[in-house]
Amino acid sequence: MTVPRVHAVVLAAGKGTRMKSELAKVLHEAAGMPLVGWVMAALTKLDLADVCVVVGYQADEVRALLPEGVTTALQSDQHGTGHATQVALESLELSEGLGEGDVILVVLGDMPLLLPETLEAVIARHTEAAAHATILTTELGDPTGYGRIVRDGARVTAIVEDRDANDEQRSICEVNTSIYAFDAAALREALERVVRHNAQGEMYLTDVVAIMVEDGKDVVTLSGDAVEVMGVNSHDQLAEAAGELRRRINRRWMRDGVWMADPDRTYIEPSVTLAPGARIHPDVHLVGATVVDAGAEVGPSVYAEDSAIGPDSKVWYAVLRGASIGPGAQVGPYASLRPGAELLDESKAGTFVEVKASTIGHGSKVPHLSYIGDATIGEGSNIGAGTITVNYDGFAKHRTKIGARVKIGSDTMLVAPVEVGDDAYTGAGSVITEDVAPGALAVERSPQIEITGYAARREQRAREERD
Ligand code: UD1
Ligand code: CA
Repeated sequence: MTVPRVHAVVLAAGKGTRMKSELAKVLHEAAGMPLVGWVMAALTKLDLADVCVVVGYQADEVRALLPEGVTTALQSDQHGTGHATQVALESLELSEGLGEGDVILVVLGDMPLLLPETLEAVIARHTEAAAHATILTTELGDPTGYGRIVRDGARVTAIVEDRDANDEQRSICEVNTSIYAFDAAALREALERVVRHNAQGEMYLTDVVAIMVEDGKDVVTLSGDAVEVMGVNSHDQLAEAAGELRRRINRRWMRDGVWMADPDRTYIEPSVTLAPGARIHPDVHLVGATVVDAGAEVGPSVYAEDSAIGPDSKVWYAVLRGASIGPGAQVGPYASLRPGAELLDESKAGTFVEVKASTIGHGSKVPHLSYIGDATIGEGSNIGAGTITVNYDGFAKHRTKIGARVKIGSDTMLVAPVEVGDDAYTGAGSVITEDVAPGALAVERSPQIEITGYAARREQRAREERD
């Protein structure tokens, strides 16, 4: 048995009317990737000659997120699944050329749960049976809306769409998943003979089955898991699919040694990397290129996007975007780390602290109520509560440089550009506008005055005014 050249065709031209959304259905996201992205991810695991995605509604937006090397065929008017497949075949013929014995694997762009093993099984069944068509079917408790597999004994004779089915056919629970393997030549020939249904002249891909059977060609089936081949047609199905994708992602990480307090409340995108020994508490969203190291304690309630969370660090009730957290560092509760926030080992950004484009040195602490922007803090420094780097003069941003072992007093305003030398101090409540020399104390505030006996005199005056 020779291994055939397999061309995958992904049907993704439709709008998806039941989503009641302006966005094309296949562009809706589930667990961090658009629906068609999940399908593409499954296809990349297969040994395919090429992949052709049929695009139509929002064609440019769909094209933009396809991996390199994938070709697209434009179906400007959506005249049905048969027409869409024909458009793909024409495009494949032009680009690659379809040879003797080539196989066309048809999948839908709205099936995010599809596993590559299942597609491999469809191709294997098709090749072993030397069939002209292989249909992946599944059994549904409620088959309403799906094409039914009509059989004569064990032999498939047709697929009948729900709207065209008679009562007897409607009671069939074996349905068409819309995943097929076809012999390319037989498919092309059968498609040419498909008659257009209804006023819009829709061509059903499903009609090729009866045509092939009439011609004495071999049509076989393979049974698949009903959840896996679930197509998304509405928002409630989208949420259901997203839940299943998250469960798969979380199961994989737990198998790899990640601890999760509650996987049902853990949201990890497929692009994230976790090390064995990472610990994830509830309501954690890990997004984009986020990486979590061993022993890191993340959550409850963390949103981390494109961020690196180092080993043995602790991050809770925090938002991280483009931040890097060093080994043993602490973040939160209630911290916001923005792009370029870099916390070196054993450092801290504590309660109600915002950090942007700044490095907090080894063991340095910003424990409470501070804004640190465009700053560099050396090692072993402490930033008093309420300190702010005044980085913006209304026109441009300026940098603040704080040395090692510095003690910034509470409520210090560091008006940038400004530099505080190693081992220096600032007095609480100071507005620092000049550089501070190493080891010096800088204080900027009016001397405190004391008015003796004030309270008694104030009360006396009030009494006199009343009487
Ligand atoms: C189709 C099958 C049905 C099967 C079901 C499984 C047909 C006629 N029916 O029905 O037997 O049980 O899938 O989910 O094939 N598309 C295009 N261009 C078009 C029309 C559709 O690209 O002109 C794409 C859509 O974007 C969608 C997919 O094909 O992703 C399926 O189309 P849809 O109209 O939803 O088919 P169903 O009615 O679900
Ligand atoms: Ca002051």
